[in-house]
Amino acid sequence: MSIAVVILAAGQGTRMKSDLPKVLHGLAGAPLLAHVMATAQEIESERLVVVTGHGAEAVEAEAATRDEEARFVRQEEQLGTGHAVLQAAPELADFSGDVAILYGDTPLIRPETLEAMQKAREEGASVVVLGFETACPTGYGRLIRDEDGSLLKIVEEKDATPAEREVSLCNSGVILADSALLFELLSEVRNDNAKGEYYLTDVIGLARGRGLTAGIITCPESETLGVNSRTDLAAAEAAFQARARSEAMENGVTLSDPATTWFALDTVIGRDVQIGPSVFFGPGVTVESGATILAFCHLEGCHVSRGARVGPYARLRPGAELAEDTHIGNFVEIKNAIVDEGAKVNHLSYIGDAHVGTATNIGAGTITCNYDGVFKHHTEIGARVFVGSNSALIAPVTIGNDAMIAAGSIITESVPEGALAVARSRQATKPGLGRRLMDKLRAAKKKKQEAV
Ligand code: UD1
Ligand code: CA
Repeated sequence: MSIAVVILAAGQGTRMKSDLPKVLHGLAGAPLLAHVMATAQEIESERLVVVTGHGAEAVEAEAATRDEEARFVRQEEQLGTGHAVLQAAPELADFSGDVAILYGDTPLIRPETLEAMQKAREEGASVVVLGFETACPTGYGRLIRDEDGSLLKIVEEKDATPAEREVSLCNSGVILADSALLFELLSEVRNDNAKGEYYLTDVIGLARGRGLTAGIITCPESETLGVNSRTDLAAAEAAFQARARSEAMENGVTLSDPATTWFALDTVIGRDVQIGPSVFFGPGVTVESGATILAFCHLEGCHVSRGARVGPYARLRPGAELAEDTHIGNFVEIKNAIVDEGAKVNHLSYIGDAHVGTATNIGAGTITCNYDGVFKHHTEIGARVFVGSNSALIAPVTIGNDAMIAAGSIITESVPEGALAVARSRQATKPGLGRRLMDKLRAAKKKKQEAV
């Protein structure tokens, strides 16, 4: 059965107390909305419609960067969840199949859960609702069942009788139904309720009224966590990280201190990767099998190949590409640079806008001076080069294969293949002068102290 997804993202999110639309707040290196969009992609949704309202332009711009085929509809006034979904009708008029309704502020629903809902649809339920059991049902819609356990209706808290409020099985908000049926039912929804809103949840009662069946799939409460405040956002982050950490370990990644490993939504880590304590993955990181990331590293927008060793205390910034068996050591920053196989940058270096050739050794404290205050320039370093410690390579500059750079050099001109470049002032050594100078200074100090 083909599936389309409608994401509701028109709400204001007042309790975030923010100028940023709620669904653009970041969770694991990506906006909340991107998490929901990724879930839609994982269930191979054929069409995605995002309902926007508050901050529509910003929300649409962000969503378009994540899925260029995403469609947008605006809900000018927030008249309720049913009204919000109805806005998507024109974008789905020519779509036949099921529609899943997701919320842009509810980022942790697993694709497997939606697949269970799809299965329930295939087994005959006309409408399927995702429910969850909770100890604190306050504020949620309650799933009301008949004697044989099938779903009769959803009652919002404000419209519920005291007996209905006792029900602990709640509505997550996720609903799956045939597209044509859903919009037909929605056109019948009225707003004669406690909130004066058009409730999406009313489609259940309407479906039952037509003799159709409604099914329930349940999931753990943690999956349905909706973000309404900064506190919720932190709770969602914790839940995301807990899940990402166990998934990584299940997939064969060693985390020496899981509680201090931070993943992004799109982090990809291969088997047998070893990750030390306090390692942070920002967006866009891939690490191949068998690489080692030692303690206290910060990685973002980079690729680490098989057998590479990074850290401790390394920073890989966007565009860092580490080939196999490279070594990047402590207090090294790599940005927009390709480091070829077996090359080593082991201590205290900045390599930016550069290419480092195979088996090259970059000595401690080497800096590629890539920025002239206005433009960025490239540094090209060949294979098997030895760059002595504390060298500055002033870009643009090219160092040929098998060249050597003497320690402490300031390299402003390209160095040909196989050459040795020494670019520092010559040392002057005056025999005995050190001791004489020191004696003189000590004598001066003594005289000063006696004078007091
Ligand atoms: C809704 C459900 C409730 C469920 C709860 C789960 C209805 C009527 N109620 O209640 O059964 O237990 O979610 O969290 O559906 N939105 C729009 N436009 C609108 C209204 C809402 O885009 O006009 C979006 C919001 O931005 C939000 C989502 O829909 O992402 C849910 O809206 P919200 O007002 O939070 O619904 P609840 O009253 O919490
Ligand atoms: Ca809500």
